[in-house]
Amino acid sequence: MQVCLVVILPLLWPLINAQVPHWGPCPEPVTQPAFNFKLFMGRWFEIAKLPAQFEKGRCIETNFTLQFDGTARVLSSEILKGELRTMEGTAVVEDKKNPAKLGISFSYVLPYTPYWIISTDYINSALVYSCTDVLRLFHVDFAWILGRSRSLPESTINHGKEVFTKNNIDVSRMVASRQQGCDKLP
Ligand SMILES: *[C@@H]1O[C@H](CO)[C@@H](O)[C@H](O)[C@H]1NC(C)=O
Repeated sequence: MQVCLVVILPLLWPLINAQVPHWGPCPEPVTQPAFNFKLFMGRWFEIAKLPAQFEKGRCIETNFTLQFDGTARVLSSEILKGELRTMEGTAVVEDKKNPAKLGISFSYVLPYTPYWIISTDYINSALVYSCTDVLRLFHVDFAWILGRSRSLPESTINHGKEVFTKNNIDVSRMVASRQQGCDKLP
């Protein structure tokens, strides 16, 4: 076991270090009760995110469209270095007993990564959390505050952070996403 860790940790370290590592397994947050996948469809703007280090683009938004098979097509876009970049994926309800536990994949070859709806009112804002255990020793996580418009009231953002914190999700390093100057595309 020890030998294994000595070998594996340095290999994983760049990945972990670029994100927000926490010891122990993923927290088990409460998710949106009676989550309605259909009402979640449509356009969401990224208002704040954790961690800050990657995804340096701005004007990040995601458009969810329900498909006939009950999955959703996911179209994400951002402006990076003056160019509009898009990424297409699929969202599924992974756990029928808890429909707020979605999974998203951006490629046929990649597994679904967790995309849990912690809370949403469908019409203004949503709190999303994604966490992956690494060897059950530590976890790497992502969190987003999404809005139906490009900005949300400060009180909504602060309340969102409180909800994450109450669920043992550390959002002290959460940063605001840039949503300025997005309507005049390059
Ligand atoms: C979202 O996707 C749907 C279906 O492809 C499309 O009709 C709609 O115009 C898109 N909305 C935005 C804002 O891109």
